[in-house]
Amino acid sequence: MKQDFIATEYVLQSVKTGKQFEDTGWTLDAPGETDPTLVRAIYKKKQIEVKDDSYGIYKFSDWLPVNKVLKGSCAPVTYKSEGLAKYLGLENLYITFSGYWPEKGAMFRTCSFKETESYSVCARMNSDMKKILVVASAGNTARAFARVCSDNNIPLLLCVPEDNLDALWFGEHIHDCVKLIATKSGSDYFDAIHLSNLACQVDGFIAEGGAKNVARRDGMGTTVLSAVTKIGRIPDYYFQAVGSGTGAIAAWEANLRFIEDGRFGKNKMKLMVSQNHPFIPIHNAWKADSRPMLHYDDNEARKHVEEMIAKVLSNRRPPYPIVGGLYDAMKDAGGEVLLANNTELKEAAKIFEDIEGNDIHPAAAVAVATLIKETKATHIEKDAVVMLNITGGGEERYKKEHNLHYLSPKHVFDINPDLEEVKKVLKY
Ligand SMILES: Cc1ncc(COP(=O)(O)O)c(C=O)c1O
Repeated sequence: MKQDFIATEYVLQSVKTGKQFEDTGWTLDAPGETDPTLVRAIYKKKQIEVKDDSYGIYKFSDWLPVNKVLKGSCAPVTYKSEGLAKYLGLENLYITFSGYWPEKGAMFRTCSFKETESYSVCARMNSDMKKILVVASAGNTARAFARVCSDNNIPLLLCVPEDNLDALWFGEHIHDCVKLIATKSGSDYFDAIHLSNLACQVDGFIAEGGAKNVARRDGMGTTVLSAVTKIGRIPDYYFQAVGSGTGAIAAWEANLRFIEDGRFGKNKMKLMVSQNHPFIPIHNAWKADSRPMLHYDDNEARKHVEEMIAKVLSNRRPPYPIVGGLYDAMKDAGGEVLLANNTELKEAAKIFEDIEGNDIHPAAAVAVATLIKETKATHIEKDAVVMLNITGGGEERYKKEHNLHYLSPKHVFDINPDLEEVKKVLKY
């Protein structure tokens, strides 16, 4: 890789008011505004120039809010499907793959598109920030952040439920700049988020910010940058399984940038997002034509999380209502919230593996299952340009080919710990 990287030029903009302001380093909210809104990056370069593959994901740095290039990343890979396309009778099916598939040039060592966001978020961090990044996750996100921080010597604190620790597998050793704390067995992702909120109140720690972090969204948007620059035009349909919906918001924002770019068409991809039945809160809000999420009883939600296979899709408070969030994206671009149950996702994963030749993550199989159903129902025109976002895959293969290391927690907290206890543990 060439060492001539210059920080990307951009400003931030409130989606609600359109007001523009400088990024002071880690701006997550519009200064002085009280109504909840996402902020968006407005890049100086309107026509993207894609760099060569040696830059990894930073080949798309014109549209990433980054000031450096970190080691070890890989950009999502897009290819024109033959097998699945024939099976479905689609003439223009493109698969964007973020995972482990060396023959296709996909080398995501943690096997999911969460690497796109972690390489982008960590390269947004300024070297003089001198803060420890705090990330709460139930699995894929934690693994992705651990990998990038370990390889680039960036201090990181992960908060993960104890029951999910088996998701913290790695093909290579993890440096001790990465620390892990857990919430005890029986707790879930929301308890881990609570713990991370406490950690962020301790001096020296800083929240990653989730969907509010422009680097997270624009990192995920590289799936669309990969697809559009490969296909040569903006697709008609975008299929992705969602938990928070951040990936789909990012896809819409990337689409808007391409319209401004002017060389790839003017259309908006229909956002065909999907959930794993019975955990379907986004579906329910969308079908009710409601911006606010509908009431979801905690116990019922926990029961549904236990039942569903694609557990990474179990976000109970997605950035759906917020201005610039998923509701606005889908209203603007059009689309549907589709469903797949466990049986359908297992069948879809098998079909993908048999026909395309790689194992895929259960979440990605939800997207495949809904594409199969929509095509069978003749809702997708034969000649439509379809982007299928395979958000994770090759994990079984990667695990077979590598000796795995697991990260162990520095401390396991009771559910609902108090701040003093967290402070004591974090004094390292
Ligand atoms: C493999 C995979 N696919 C899809 C998703 C859903 O992404 P989002 O939360 O952006 O909707 C996740 C989230 O963790 C994931 O890990």
